[in-house]
Amino acid sequence: GEGRLWGGRFASGPDRAAWDLGRSIHFDARLWPYDLSGSRAHADELQRLDLVTDDDHDAIVTALATIEEEFTDGTFAFLDDDEDLHGAVERRLIELCGAAGGRLRAGRSRNDQIVGDLRLYLADTIPVLTEQLRNIQTALADQAEGAVDWIAPGFTHLQRAQPVTLAHHLLAHAWALDRDVARLADCRARLLDFSPLGSGAMAGLTLPLDPQRYADALGYTGVGPNSMDTVADRDFAVEFLSATAMIGVHLSRLCEEVVLWASTEFGWCRVGDAFSTGSSIMPQKRNPDVAELVRGKTGRLIGSLVTLLVTLKGLPLTYNRDLQEDKEPVFDAVDTLMLALPAVAGMMASLVFDRQRLAGTAAGGFSLATDVAEALVVAGVPFRSAHERVGELVATCEGRGIDITDLTPDELVGTMPELDADQVSSLLDPMGAVHRRNAVQGPAPEAVRGQLATLRDRIG
Ligand code: ARG
Repeated sequence: GEGRLWGGRFASGPDRAAWDLGRSIHFDARLWPYDLSGSRAHADELQRLDLVTDDDHDAIVTALATIEEEFTDGTFAFLDDDEDLHGAVERRLIELCGAAGGRLRAGRSRNDQIVGDLRLYLADTIPVLTEQLRNIQTALADQAEGAVDWIAPGFTHLQRAQPVTLAHHLLAHAWALDRDVARLADCRARLLDFSPLGSGAMAGLTLPLDPQRYADALGYTGVGPNSMDTVADRDFAVEFLSATAMIGVHLSRLCEEVVLWASTEFGWCRVGDAFSTGSSIMPQKRNPDVAELVRGKTGRLIGSLVTLLVTLKGLPLTYNRDLQEDKEPVFDAVDTLMLALPAVAGMMASLVFDRQRLAGTAAGGFSLATDVAEALVVAGVPFRSAHERVGELVATCEGRGIDITDLTPDELVGTMPELDADQVSSLLDPMGAVHRRNAVQGPAPEAVRGQLATLRDRIG
């Protein structure tokens, strides 16, 4: 029990099972850079207030530098008595600089320390995730660049709906990821606006430490206004996990499409060799495992969000040990995304699309029916009856085993005399259908070029 942070009031040490249950060092050790920067700021503050002599301050700072080296090169030795990171650091500090190391705990609690560590960890992690998201957007933008005028079928209900350009479809996914980037940035700004240091265990401090100085020293933009809220609040972690769950859902939807597109039945694209896998029994197989794994891992990301929400929901203020359960879902979300994001970026870059196949399926399935109905509207027909008449035409064509696009211009004008005979052939051309949809958010090549430029701007 010598190494523990608390023992004074107990006659005996903890039971083995109780100690094992409570230890968090095996997962919270990854917060060491933030625990050490917080400790340095705290040593400075204690020195400024003459609560620690200059000599003791220097001894502490030197020992903290040694500890940093040990963590960096992986030689920091964890002991069984190390309950959590904060305890391990203090134990090592005292080994390195003696009694001076025991002075650093004045004026802080693990309750405010752990919130600070986790906030700063997320503040550093978000830009890394953002860069990975940007890489996927870039892969999508590069694919789109080469497919600005490639016609593709657009779906609703997974039934062919209206033709689009492949670029338009790919960029739809890139815009979803753009909102994820914004959500992470928003989460980061808010978590940095709430320095917990000075909140102590929950009621602030009797020592005259200056919360604003901590905030300034550690890169926070503000100080949490209520010590009880600050040590009990895990909103920032929920916001982060909500953003990462949303990222998971976006990746999963993209990956689901890749699985479909790569099937023989769709035949839209081929996943590159480096992102495909084979079968142990079927020699011909070429499986999109990367896409499936990412779709699968989304379950963990959603689970982590739910885990933390459920952990929090019944907790009375302020700190409860349940809060120690906040970190593993956060770390798992980060680790999961750090595996998934680069794989998705690489997989998307590796796709080779089949332009002919896409064009072939874009025309079928009566996907130009809306266009014919809208041409009738332009000719003065109320949409309700235009819709009805084109519907009947679809049924007739279906009976003959052909598509509307298989009608000759004369046949079409025969049933729809309001239509302008000169425009009928362009009306039945899927490329014409795409070019007509040239509003700023539409799939027309010229609109998509604008969209692509805007996206590239945002990617930076
Ligand atoms: N390791 C704890 C956590 O992650 C911090 C320690 C607070 N422990 C306590 N008994 N107050 O939340």
